[in-house]
Amino acid sequence: MAVTPPVQRIWWKEPIERVELVWTALAFLWGLAMFSTMIVWHVVGKQNLANEAYRISPQTFIARADAFAEKYKVREEANTGVPVVRPPAGADIYLLGRLWEWWPVLELEKGRTYRLHLSSIDWQHGFSLLPVNINIQVHPGYEHVITITPDQLGQFGIVCNEYCGIGHHQMTGKIYVVEPKPQ
Ligand code: CUA
Repeated sequence: MAVTPPVQRIWWKEPIERVELVWTALAFLWGLAMFSTMIVWHVVGKQNLANEAYRISPQTFIARADAFAEKYKVREEANTGVPVVRPPAGADIYLLGRLWEWWPVLELEKGRTYRLHLSSIDWQHGFSLLPVNINIQVHPGYEHVITITPDQLGQFGIVCNEYCGIGHHQMTGKIYVVEPKPQ
């Protein structure tokens, strides 16, 4: 405890110890290694999707998502009444994040390619696709456009992984991947 002044007032004018230099160098190299994983992982990892991003107003995105859901709705999800939307292969598809749901439920065909438009209309949310662990930050005012080709059948959950308020833990969504219709 520094109750009394240090004996040597100019305490910082000491030569650097060799061990300090070694630790500083190690920490720097480790920092570089951690930094390089971001670049390497973008290339070899499967979590970071290549995407395009565009500015879009929340009103425009709502209008497009509504029109999309109305056009391709096939049924309603039991209990929740959320529309289940089954677009044709190759379509532009919309998924909207808001307090506190991912809307609508999508039904996609395995092996077919879609252009997924993803945005938020109110707040920052985190799109996290389970169990495949694809994660995308979702901001109002921007849409991510991702070219996707589902390669597994089944039911996939979407959760929000960016804290967005009292209902954050209930902010879920769903994607069904089904057998393709013959084309
Ligand atoms: Cu949306 Cu957390």
